Amino acid sequence: MNDKFETHEHDVLIIGAGGAGLRAATEALANGASVGIVCKSLLGKAHTVMAEGGIAAAMANVDPGDDWRTHFGDTMRGGKLLNNWRMAQIHAQEAPDRVRELEQWGALFDRTEDGRILQRAFGGHSFKRLCHVGDRTGLEMIRTLQDRGVQMGFDVYMECTITRLLTDGGRVVGAFGYWRENGRFVVFKAKSIVLATGGIGKAYQITSNSWEYTGDGMALAYEAGAELMDMEFVQFHPTGMVWPPGVQGLLVTEAVRGEGGTLRNRTGERFMERHDPKRMELSTRDVVARAIYTEVKEGRGTEHGGAYLDISHKPAEYVKRKLPSMYHQFLELADVDITKGPMEVGPTCHYMMGGVRVEAETAATTIPGLFAAGEVAAGLHGANRLGGNSLSDLLVFGRRAGVAAAEHAKKQGTASVDPAQIEAAEREALAPFERKTNENPYMVHADLQQAMQSLVGIFRVEQDLQSALGKIAELKDRANRLSVTGSRMFNPGWHLCADLKSLLTVSEAVTRCALARKESRGAHSRIDFSKYDPVWGKQNNVISWRNGEMSLQQRPTPELPQELQALVEAEKGAGA
Ligand code: FUM
Repeated sequence: MNDKFETHEHDVLIIGAGGAGLRAATEALANGASVGIVCKSLLGKAHTVMAEGGIAAAMANVDPGDDWRTHFGDTMRGGKLLNNWRMAQIHAQEAPDRVRELEQWGALFDRTEDGRILQRAFGGHSFKRLCHVGDRTGLEMIRTLQDRGVQMGFDVYMECTITRLLTDGGRVVGAFGYWRENGRFVVFKAKSIVLATGGIGKAYQITSNSWEYTGDGMALAYEAGAELMDMEFVQFHPTGMVWPPGVQGLLVTEAVRGEGGTLRNRTGERFMERHDPKRMELSTRDVVARAIYTEVKEGRGTEHGGAYLDISHKPAEYVKRKLPSMYHQFLELADVDITKGPMEVGPTCHYMMGGVRVEAETAATTIPGLFAAGEVAAGLHGANRLGGNSLSDLLVFGRRAGVAAAEHAKKQGTASVDPAQIEAAEREALAPFERKTNENPYMVHADLQQAMQSLVGIFRVEQDLQSALGKIAELKDRANRLSVTGSRMFNPGWHLCADLKSLLTVSEAVTRCALARKESRGAHSRIDFSKYDPVWGKQNNVISWRNGEMSLQQRPTPELPQELQALVEAEKGAGA
């Protein structure tokens, strides 16, 4: 061990231990690689558990008419055709096998009467497609994958934040980070790295994400020279808690609506009739989130600024069996018995459709040796993700990233890390202790969240987006003057300095892409450009780091092959 930092070496290093990271890790192990998995928090604490209502996979256990083609078509239409069609095809084709495999490894799904995996309805899915475990599906997935990884023998590095990727001649060879507990530095040498760090929820004030989700993987990839894509597409889940204030944003699963829950405004009107009369509460998330937001803005919101979501017309035992977590969540946190009365809900920043640009078959980024899977990666979901497609995404592309990372590692010699890069990373990490500037990380974070929530939220307009860019530039300047006191032993203010670097990078990318896309599509709603634009419908926004600056270009979307066109045709041309 070096006196300043310890070093660990693996064939494959996975950064992030949610569903995608765990699935990549188990697959890399199965392919003969030595695997280390780094978690910012404790193993098992991942945003994956917030995908509560189910895994989307066309198993056709409940609705025999379902198959991968319908799942593919729904995903493409839900994503407003901006999806990488090949990712959407692979996802729809492989999801059922990934679910069956998870079951073989011990996941206990709810069952149909004849013993098959039970599936429920969710927004934008034409069939009952979500395999589930009550309303704790993500948790069951994490439990299963974590047990398997531990049994197979990965090395787990908990409470460790990675602040820089290390490169050699353009390929990735390692990562630099620190232990959150004692502040000591750590270097990982690796032949391949899989980013699986999830999303950017903490850029916003109201979010279902917990403290870990600060866009680290996207920022790490961008700083190492990889490309980010379609960063304007931030998903606001329609239903988060709105009351009491301490739990604002906490997820209320879409399974409530999947099981028959209805939405009403303060006048008692079932307002989805005006917003999507055909699909009502099971419309796609972008539509339902905008509907609730509009009801509140136009003065028809509930006491605490939301909408009423009611499942109390179902028998109490049914609600408790199907939605046990929601029952306890509302009883314990809001003193509301959901078997007797409605919940108050409102949109919450939940998921990032944009992210690191990857190749569909292998999840490879443009940097040799660097892979990305799950929420950190872009492409599969296009302009809007369907509920339940995140868990299947994690399994399908986590597995593919694990295979490709292990294969890549086999072809590499021992990695050598550059001491100058490590020294630069150390200097960067320690800078807040050296400064006497009194710029407080908590204040900068609060101001960033306020700006993103109010200026780059559900509805966007040129003037707000320009103001947001100005604000972010100001905040970046303040971030260069951040200072902290105390020691490196568990020091949350210091940790936030590292997180802010990522948050500011991803926030700038979101805002630049949102400004550029002069149309409304999926989760990106421009008040000043409220319609689809056919030109924008065929281009992705791509962000990269050029000459010290963030550069934005448009690239044509991959052409959808003739044989798949009919599968997405049904609603082509429908309004945003
Ligand atoms: O509402 C939910 O249960 C969330 C699911 C998802 O984001 O996929």
